[in-house]
Amino acid sequence: MKNFININSKINEFNKVINISSDKSISIRCILLASQAIGVSKIYNILESDDVMNAFKAIKKLGIDYKRKKNHYKIYGLGINGYHTNKKLSINAGNSGTLARLILGLLINCKNGITLFGDKSLSKRDFSRVTNPLRLFGANIESDNKKLPVKISGSEFLRPISYFEKLGSAQCKSAVMLAALKCPGITRIKAVKSRNHTELLFRNLKIPIKVFKKKRFDLIEVNGLKNFKGFEYVVPGDISSCSFFLVLTLLSEKSKMLIKNVNVNDTRTGIIKILNKMNANIKLINKKKYKGESVADILVKSKKNLKGINCSSKLNSSAIDEFLIIFLVASKAKGISSFYNLSELNKKESPRLDIAVKILKKIGVKIIRKKDNLKIFGDPELKLKGKYIIKNFRKDHRVVMMSCIAALTLGGKWKISDKNSVNTSFPNFFKIIKSVGARIH
Ligand code: S3P
Repeated sequence: MKNFININSKINEFNKVINISSDKSISIRCILLASQAIGVSKIYNILESDDVMNAFKAIKKLGIDYKRKKNHYKIYGLGINGYHTNKKLSINAGNSGTLARLILGLLINCKNGITLFGDKSLSKRDFSRVTNPLRLFGANIESDNKKLPVKISGSEFLRPISYFEKLGSAQCKSAVMLAALKCPGITRIKAVKSRNHTELLFRNLKIPIKVFKKKRFDLIEVNGLKNFKGFEYVVPGDISSCSFFLVLTLLSEKSKMLIKNVNVNDTRTGIIKILNKMNANIKLINKKKYKGESVADILVKSKKNLKGINCSSKLNSSAIDEFLIIFLVASKAKGISSFYNLSELNKKESPRLDIAVKILKKIGVKIIRKKDNLKIFGDPELKLKGKYIIKNFRKDHRVVMMSCIAALTLGGKWKISDKNSVNTSFPNFFKIIKSVGARIH
């Protein structure tokens, strides 16, 4: 089966209501926490993507049963000491940094050596950001060059830690919080602000947690060794997946889209703040609270006079997975857009900062990159006629989706490789794109 797509024409003049696929971060957290709860959890509307399925396979290996029901998954948790770790095991995290990093936190009390590995892309990513704090708890961790595979053997003599998470990485913060569950006493984390789904779930499950909010960071305290009960959760839509449709609509002509039931937690909505500062008029409607998360329908319309942005790096963490698509908007906006301190972008499924610069240069956008800062010289008249071949050497799902949106809004003839990588986070991406009117083959 061919693993590339061709897109040869733009789309315009659509008016659609869509449901977006479920949130990946929350789906993975629900599975991991349900595997640690006592009794049955029921998780509705879970994302059935490769990353999330790897989370199911991982808990199964650790002795936790689950069943797929008609509209939910049942997970049979055995408590915070319930993983079966008597024999040596290996766990494959596939492409998922979230799964790999978070599950390591839950393994600091495992009885035998567990080897964690992943695909080519994940094996290139840094794991010292989680292995360093987890070693402080007393876990034994072996890894070459700070990369996967990582071998972890837990300790019976765990001690709580105080840790400063300086990167603004929710994966790192969450790994430490999950490890804290396994450890007597209070673990204290000072964490540069990042998505807070783990904190909200802990609070909901009545896991003893305190969060003190400061300007640039949060102080989090978790009191360990407290079991908690199975739970029910309905996973909302993923704003990161939604972002591709926001931009598709914004850059198309005479179009409008209502995207239903999206998680609009403030720690995730950087994309909306950034696009609205660029003169978009994206509205949140029917906003409500669900278990501490905010959920809303998002209304977006085409916009002609978008303008450049001087984007404060304070917004980086709440838009961390959206920069590829934001750069595309900057390329079509009037004036210069500046972005700062983007080093974390190069530590994702592929070096996204390098790749964004390559793709935008390929399509004729003027860019100046100085270290981790980017200046994009936008052109509202940007229209493409040439042929563009996107070789996605690390099979990055977000590179595929960003390239598709570029093709559908700017024109030209595109051949985009590794189309199947969208299954990582957004398996029905092409189905929705086609339903909006795109002709792809
Ligand atoms: C995630 C956190 C972010 C994000 C990733 C999902 C999470 O990574 O890029 O896609 O679920 O915690 P970092 O923690 O590395 O910033």
